[in-house]
Amino acid sequence: MPLLLNAADASAVEQAALRLKAGSLVGMPTETVYGLAADADNATAVHRIFDAKGRPADHPLIVHLAPGTGAQGWRDGVDHYARDVPAFALSLMQAFWPGPLTLILPRREGVAAVAAGGQDSVGLRCPAHPVAQALLAAAAAHGVSGVAAPSANRFGRVSPTTAAHVVEEFAALPDAELLILDGGACPVGIESTIVDATRSHPVLLRPGMISAAQIEAVCRQPLRERDQAAPRASGTLESHYAPRAKVRLMDAKPLQAALDVLGTDARHIAVYARSPIKAARGVQVRRMPSEATRSAQELFAVLRELDATGVRLIWVETPPEEPGWDGVRDRLVRAAA
Ligand code: TXA
Ligand code: MG
Repeated sequence: MPLLLNAADASAVEQAALRLKAGSLVGMPTETVYGLAADADNATAVHRIFDAKGRPADHPLIVHLAPGTGAQGWRDGVDHYARDVPAFALSLMQAFWPGPLTLILPRREGVAAVAAGGQDSVGLRCPAHPVAQALLAAAAAHGVSGVAAPSANRFGRVSPTTAAHVVEEFAALPDAELLILDGGACPVGIESTIVDATRSHPVLLRPGMISAAQIEAVCRQPLRERDQAAPRASGTLESHYAPRAKVRLMDAKPLQAALDVLGTDARHIAVYARSPIKAARGVQVRRMPSEATRSAQELFAVLRELDATGVRLIWVETPPEEPGWDGVRDRLVRAAA
């Protein structure tokens, strides 16, 4: 079993930082989801992430930077990994860092090549979670410039939002190989918004709780849709975030109609809906929050819980076609693919 430590214990963060320095893996709470972290400049350590996740080595990882001191404390980290940072990307960092925004930037040659999956770009993010910040700062004090961390789930599965989820995913790893810092449930709940900043204009690669409108307002230019030239991103694979049960998205009316037809036969189905749904006894119905932020917060934990009941199908009411719901809708569409 991995070693699970309460992040509030004074020595836990330092212990985790020493492990990063030594090239081993740390389960790191962030405001979005838990990450599986390793020293971004240590190729052997980064390979351990790909091995543990079962993720193809050409799928790039996000490098997390310490907040540093002062208004742009992350600037040294950015300069270590990236070059030719466009002005709009700097504005985005100033507006949203520390926070749930990742920027894909031209990579400085010779650094973090393994973490970047061999691409000539690098994904950077400065997280807002106090435990992530304490860990990144402690690691920096030991000479670790940045920490590569994908979501701490096996490839293609639901992202973890609690330390217990991370234990569930990597139960097979011994305590010497993985230390998990328990920092409680992640407050945002879905992964960071990703913006491609390798060209002269911003491109949205993955929607998140920082909305397209917020990004456009800061960049003072429209966000373009991804095109052929945009970098690949595994979080943008069509099928991702998949529980064992099959997820199906439906509007409230057809969902209700389908349940009515099935009656008690629907016991192998779990329902997650914003609208009040009537189902036969024995059918699990979970109410989805009516606000996007609260829905994002619990989404992955609910998918895991419903999955753990052993149902074969999870029927989810399609989220509203409103901008605030883009991130949640994106994750559900992929879970259903
Ligand atoms: O909120 C988050 O972003 C979380 C926490 C732990 O920070 N991390 C996360 O990592 O979601 P991951 O690896 O599960 O998703 C990162 C996404 C992937 O889709 C990856 O392809 C993309 O970022 N990405 C990273 N570096 C990239 C690069 N250089 N070019 C294109 N895409 C990149
Ligand atoms: Mg992921």
